[in-house]
Amino acid sequence: MISVKNVSYTYMTGTPFEKTALKNISFDVAEGEVLAIAGHTGSGKSTLIQIVAGLIELTSGTVEIDGLSVADKKIRRLVGIVFQYPEHQLFEETVESDIAFGPKNFGLSEAEISARVDEAMRQVGLDAALKKSSPFELSGGQRRRVAIAGILALKPKYLILDEPTAGLDPLAKKNLLNEIFGDVKKSGVTIILVSHNMEDIANFANRVVVLAHGKILFVGTPRELFVREEILQTAGLEPPPISKLLRTLNIDGRALTLDEAEKIILSTRKKR
Ligand SMILES: Nc1ncnc2c1ncn2[C@@H]1O[C@H](COP(=O)(O)OP(=O)(O)OP(=O)(O)O)[C@@H](O)[C@H]1O
Ligand SMILES: [Mg+2]
Repeated sequence: MISVKNVSYTYMTGTPFEKTALKNISFDVAEGEVLAIAGHTGSGKSTLIQIVAGLIELTSGTVEIDGLSVADKKIRRLVGIVFQYPEHQLFEETVESDIAFGPKNFGLSEAEISARVDEAMRQVGLDAALKKSSPFELSGGQRRRVAIAGILALKPKYLILDEPTAGLDPLAKKNLLNEIFGDVKKSGVTIILVSHNMEDIANFANRVVVLAHGKILFVGTPRELFVREEILQTAGLEPPPISKLLRTLNIDGRALTLDEAEKIILSTRKKR
């Protein structure tokens, strides 16, 4: 379990550029759940997950991961974080060595590393034939997958993804999400997903934390969130288009995903 208590954070304290990014944030992440973090640009999402991953030093409040303080080096093995636009951080000569970089630092055997590279490539839908390619000759979407595979190869217990599909085309986005939330999730990881996209949140998240101006506005299920119009408005979020449409047509106010909408529409047709 991850437990975040009373976390506040200010960038560049004591300078004219001082900026409070988080104010008194508390929430838990239960094992096996998908927790989404949503909020407008600059609301503090990336700051929050970097604190949870131990990459920004805490100045007030506490973060505990499986009972260990986030400052404890042991948590580095538990938490894997995929940054926004992670493909900018690829640097090795081949796809294979880039994905293997983290596992190598863990001091795993060559055989184990190679098995992890293969598995991670499969999990993100990368063709094994690309192993010896340079990451720089791949498409943007493929590079993104290489970067994500590099984190999956660490086999983190907690996987944090910051807008993993930003900038991908709709098909690549759908495939990547289905892979992460199908195959990867089945392996038992707990996922924190930063997303602006309410459809993705409706489809994949068990719970959502909504941030606005560094504060928590809401914690609950997507279903609970999407009926709270005042919260959505304050946070600058929109419910999934399909639920808006069904509500406008007075068919149903509860459908969040296309699958649900389809069932509801088919059942109202039958009744006629
Ligand atoms: N390195 C930094 N130095 C100073 N201020 C920063 C730094 N990083 C972020 N901030 C400020 O902290 C606030 C929160 O930023 P953060 O990147 O956490 O937001 P975000 O919710 O991830 O936004 P986005 O959706 O655009 O990625 C913003 O006002 C931002 O300008
Ligand atoms: Mg961000």
